[in-house]
Amino acid sequence: MKFNISLPFLLFTLLNPTSATFVVQCYSRLFDQRADPIISPGVAADHVHAISGANGFNFTTDYAKLRASSCSTCNIKQDMSVYWTPKLYFKAQNGSFIDVPIIGDNAGGNLGGMAIYYLTRGGPDNDKLRAFPPGFRMVAGDASKRVETDDFAGRAVTHKCVGVDGPDSKGLPRTKCDTIRAQVTFPSCWDGKNLDSANHKSHVAYPRDGNYDGGRCPSSHPIHLATLFYEVYYDTKAFKGMWYGGDKQQPFVFANGDATGYGFHGDFANGWEANSLQKALDRCKDGVANCEKEVFGEFRSQGEAQSCKLPSMIDEQVTGVLSALPGCNSVTYGPAPAQSKANCAAPKLSLKASPKSLGYVDVTKSKGYRYIGCGTDNAGKRTLSQAQTSSSSMMVEKCIDFCKSKGAQYAGLEYAGECYCGASLAADRAPVQGRLGNCLMKCSGNNQQVCGGAAAISLYQACKGATCSNLARRESQRLAVLELSNADRGSELR
Ligand SMILES: *[C@@H]1O[C@H](CO)[C@@H](O)[C@H](O)[C@H]1NC(C)=O
Ligand SMILES: *[C@@H]1O[C@H](CO)[C@@H](O)[C@H](O)[C@H]1NC(C)=O
Repeated sequence: MKFNISLPFLLFTLLNPTSATFVVQCYSRLFDQRADPIISPGVAADHVHAISGANGFNFTTDYAKLRASSCSTCNIKQDMSVYWTPKLYFKAQNGSFIDVPIIGDNAGGNLGGMAIYYLTRGGPDNDKLRAFPPGFRMVAGDASKRVETDDFAGRAVTHKCVGVDGPDSKGLPRTKCDTIRAQVTFPSCWDGKNLDSANHKSHVAYPRDGNYDGGRCPSSHPIHLATLFYEVYYDTKAFKGMWYGGDKQQPFVFANGDATGYGFHGDFANGWEANSLQKALDRCKDGVANCEKEVFGEFRSQGEAQSCKLPSMIDEQVTGVLSALPGCNSVTYGPAPAQSKANCAAPKLSLKASPKSLGYVDVTKSKGYRYIGCGTDNAGKRTLSQAQTSSSSMMVEKCIDFCKSKGAQYAGLEYAGECYCGASLAADRAPVQGRLGNCLMKCSGNNQQVCGGAAAISLYQACKGATCSNLARRESQRLAVLELSNADRGSELR
């Protein structure tokens, strides 16, 4: 690793001291993908989401699958929920779309996440807050909305030009901001019966008085839940010099084609260990310092959260410079609601992750080395210390040839162009079961291959004996499910 990327966790420093019961810090994301198991189960969603939370997320998911997750991008261990919102793009003057980074995204392959506030706003009756029941899910906001309204649902979607005083705007800010914080507050009143509903909203309601984030629950929805409030920090600084068309035409657009911001929305599927959440809601009140620590104990580390990723399940580019928003979403400015699209070809879902989506090259036959996963490294004490080389034309095969020539058991690729060889692999540096790891950088000599990341190393091991299969040992149950069967692997090679 050439740069010292210390992952300063920007959300902490940017956080408002908004009083909250507690905050789930999602340090990272699983991936950005056209997936939405609530609105579009089993198929590609119609727009790209930025998705945080537990890796039991899939095109379809349920409480049991979430609870069985092997990792999460968020910090509280008892929480295997998933949280997602539409991704933000910049619409360039020439018509291209460029994905806007989330604070925490960096060249080393780390992804930023989001902050989830669990607010205790029991209302004037200070009624007891109930934990989300198993299987509970809901949506806040409306992807087709393009007009400002002042009802509670309208007030619940806001945007903050971070660092600029003044009230948050409901729509996307019309001024140039270093950071835009997209925010959505969920309804906190539940009908007590339905875990979901046809529109994913009518089983819950905003309070009947007070405001969208606190007040008495209506008699139709008498059970008071925690108020969820999502914050996603978009790093818009780099686009400040690229505005065109004047202030009325701010150039950002959400993945759902929404150039107004009124169509920002959030999705939640509960994956909480129910007793822990209830304990936190009972114990944590505004002004009770450090109650998270008391209730939840040890948190997941940032490194652990960063290494929790999902392989892409749709072969489609969703970041970088795009000629159109994925999913035939045309940009609309309102006030009429966006129309649902007809005849948009649905992309194929990859139900079995390919080696490429899992970040490796299959060199079992050509080189006799197998991919064992993405481990960690530390510039102070190398994971593989027998030999090293680096190149601006690094490739997996090249590194393996180099390490083979040194008689090394292990070959590791890191930070795009670095190659390390070693005789052994310490357990604390090895790939961790159930985590895809943080290897996302393209190889300097082949942009179709992955060569580690910052302090993350793509590890290959010399095969012994007859069996030589990738990811066999250390992979989690989850990724084992995703692994290619031998038959598939055979057809790949043909
Ligand atoms: C359009 O402009 C953007 C921003 O300057 C640039 O990155 C992109 O390459 C351009 N696209 C095309 C097709 O020229
Ligand atoms: C994800 O869901 C698909 C069905 O939509 C299924 O075939 C696949 O096995 C699931 N993946 C995992 C890892 O559970």
